[in-house]
Amino acid sequence: MNLQQDSIRAIIWQDQQLQLLDQRKLPHEQIFLTFDDAVEVAQAIRDMVVRGAPAIGIAAAYAVVLAAKTAYQQNPQRWHSLIQPALQQLALARPTAVNLMWALQRMESNFAHISNDPVPILLAEAQQIHQEDVAANYKMGELGAALLPQNCCVLTHCNAGALATGGYGTALGVVRSGYAAGKVVQVYADETRPWWQGSRLTVWELMQENIPVTLIADSVAASLMQRGKIDWVIVGADRITANGDVANKIGTYSLAVLARHHGVKFMVVAPISTLDATLDSGDSIEIEQRPDTEVVSCHGQRIAANHVVVWNPVFDVTPAELVDVIVTEKGVVHQPTRDKLSQWF
Ligand code: MRU
Repeated sequence: MNLQQDSIRAIIWQDQQLQLLDQRKLPHEQIFLTFDDAVEVAQAIRDMVVRGAPAIGIAAAYAVVLAAKTAYQQNPQRWHSLIQPALQQLALARPTAVNLMWALQRMESNFAHISNDPVPILLAEAQQIHQEDVAANYKMGELGAALLPQNCCVLTHCNAGALATGGYGTALGVVRSGYAAGKVVQVYADETRPWWQGSRLTVWELMQENIPVTLIADSVAASLMQRGKIDWVIVGADRITANGDVANKIGTYSLAVLARHHGVKFMVVAPISTLDATLDSGDSIEIEQRPDTEVVSCHGQRIAANHVVVWNPVFDVTPAELVDVIVTEKGVVHQPTRDKLSQWF
């Protein structure tokens, strides 16, 4: 297995507390915030202290441990019901990434078997979710990199790296493994408006490990493809529905259309926890809307005219037919269809 050095960890459990690398401050400041209250973790998820589908799920799992600890201290007999408001806050923190609900349901599935102090069992489960995510990323890195040609130039969008996961990353895990195998020679990173995940996070991550990366404005992707500079577009996902439609950061869909037009391959890398068999197609995915300020301002400085009407959906849906391959830790599906994906559901 070709593994690239990978030192970045954005979620740490230490001394019975949760530590989150504050991604709003990157790349210029590396500050960990410490949490011992689940509702504050829910707020941190909403505020993008921690972001990225798998990372949100892992943070929520640890938050359940914090909530259970508080509830059990208040009343050991009634902790199941006392914990509910905190669970609701966590569930509502962000709507699009299914990993959040997946992690909460997995944590809750333990409740019925707990008769005493819930913390040891729930902590073990949260740590298991965390470790499984990192292991899935290594596996997806290996499987995805195997699909890449020599001298491969990759375009990625948003940040689907170590920062967005338990470690190593999904799309950036494939980039890391592809680079370690000597296949990936150049990465282009979209800046990813409106929140700048590309310029602030992806570029920083790749530069930490000396992986060659060039930052581009989102609108440059078409010209790069037209000039034959991109072999693969590789992205993560927030939710993949039963028919293979993929919700991911806004702008992903336009990359998929561009890729198909230019004969560039399009890869989606996501753990099984991102698959949502309950939704038939991407039409039913709730797309998060975020505040106007993300669009009209830059670093607190207003750019757009006052009072302008803004529409700020932060995810879009790429139809399955535009996806060449979905990579999960369980295997790879080329030209995804409902039938092919059903093996994992
Ligand atoms: O709004 P964000 O930063 O949470 O959006 C993140 C993405 O869209 C990622 O591509 C996705 O969650 C996959 S992360 C492995």
